[in-house]
Amino acid sequence: MKSFNYYQPTRLLFGSGRRSEAGAAAKTLADSALFVVDPVLLKVAADKVEDVQKSLSEAGVRAVTFSDVVPNPTLDAIQRGAEIAKSEGVKAVIGMGGGSAIDTAKAIAVAATHPGTAWDYLYFKKAPTSATLPIMAINTTSGTGTQTSKVSVFTNTEESCKSAMWNDNLLCRIAIIDPELMLSLPTGVTASTGFDIFTHTFESYINTGASEAVDAIALDAIARVLRSLPVAVVNGSNLSAREDLAWADTLAGQCLANVGTTLPHAAGQPISGHFPKVSHGESLAVIYPAFAEFTWRGAVGKFAKVARMFNPALSTASEEVAAQSLELEIERFLKMIGLYRRLDDFGITPADIPPILAHAMEFPDSQGNPIVPSEEDMRQIYMKSFRKA
Ligand SMILES: [Fe+2]
Repeated sequence: MKSFNYYQPTRLLFGSGRRSEAGAAAKTLADSALFVVDPVLLKVAADKVEDVQKSLSEAGVRAVTFSDVVPNPTLDAIQRGAEIAKSEGVKAVIGMGGGSAIDTAKAIAVAATHPGTAWDYLYFKKAPTSATLPIMAINTTSGTGTQTSKVSVFTNTEESCKSAMWNDNLLCRIAIIDPELMLSLPTGVTASTGFDIFTHTFESYINTGASEAVDAIALDAIARVLRSLPVAVVNGSNLSAREDLAWADTLAGQCLANVGTTLPHAAGQPISGHFPKVSHGESLAVIYPAFAEFTWRGAVGKFAKVARMFNPALSTASEEVAAQSLELEIERFLKMIGLYRRLDDFGITPADIPPILAHAMEFPDSQGNPIVPSEEDMRQIYMKSFRKA
């Protein structure tokens, strides 16, 4: 077995209703916290937010609510939150919501305790130190895995640039994963965030930096997505399907923290960057068939294994036939969950590709792909992601 590192220090409180334990959990970190909450949640799930606020209050945790959270977190909002955290003198940050709220909370934890702004601590700049405020996450979607990953993604609107911090100090000390919080997610969000879970685990699994530890949890997470995402898309209030997805997402975050994504995230992120109406999950859905066609020869055994998870009838097929079939199996799955998309569907034309391609080649993710794409390879992957004439 090849040697590997694995690090996951987050204390997990997993289970329906466990948001009521937020206060006791936060109290183990500090007596005061900035409570970063998605404003949409304050409207559509005010009772759930109140459950958490009540729990914090009863535990004697002074919580200062900050709801200046936007879908693609901005540096401006993060800095506003950091100023409040500093002026209130809070000793921890709690994020409640989807990836945006939790990534905002993570970035505030750094910005409130370090000189400069959060932008100075991007993964290729200075590293955040252990002065980072302790972070607790209460995630209300299943998709980003941020509750167990060490990433915070945000945008500098002045520079029109979306980037990320990536550091062990951004691992949450505590994550409360309460699937009841996910029951009311709309169908489209369930499909796109659920597919994102699959991509985090699959790309970590085939990554040339993968390990035995990540292989095991990735395969477990993939099985949960395949059996429960189609159920949750049809019936969002199915609690056992939500539990499966919430746990798969938590496992996916561990995959991200210890290995990471490959070509599809490098190709997909710039699509959403240039066309913000394309959600992250949709951008991945666009790229996946062409990515699978390009990559299967580089990881035949792993592609074949996952193809057989999609379609057990492939158990009698050869390794090569099964591996090559994954492209079709993913297309079928995307159609089943209502997420099959082509670039044309968003009004994107071949003339839009050059700047997207230039950005894609700047992402380091593709270096872990079983076949590392050249710029021409990547251009062809985009061109194959249009509808066939
Ligand atoms: Fe993703």
